[in-house]
Amino acid sequence: MKRFACILSAVLFVLLLAAAGFTADGAALYGKCAGCHGADGAKKALGTGQPLKGLSAADLSKALNGYKAKTYGGEKKAIMESQAQALSAEDIEALSAYISKL
Ligand code: HEC
Repeated sequence: MKRFACILSAVLFVLLLAAAGFTADGAALYGKCAGCHGADGAKKALGTGQPLKGLSAADLSKALNGYKAKTYGGEKKAIMESQAQALSAEDIEALSAYISKL
């Protein structure tokens, strides 16, 4: 019986980990950004702006929320405004945390 409880808790633990995987995943979300910003965030997107690498999570979420609200950006902001429209608040949080650690 003890052994059964042990196996049961192991199974529950694995299920919990799997469930956690369904929340906003910064790495997966960054897949569609990497083309312009580089896999490690070090590229100047379309030759403009500053590289994302080195920016803090706070700076990143400020920029992304700003693009979404159309209150932030430089000469090519229209590109990022359309990118940011598709992001939820959780997406922006997960992306900012992920990119700040690149
Ligand atoms: C089609 C190319 C392209 C894609 C895809 C793209 N970006 Fe950008 N990104 C740009 C350009 C160009 C700029 C500079 C825009 C400007 O002039 O404000 C920029 C700027 C930014 C900035 C602001 C940096 C600063 O200077 O403060 C952030 C943050 C950012 N992008 C994050 C993302 C994230 C996160 C994604 C994916 C969801 C993404 N971008 C997808 C082209 C792209």
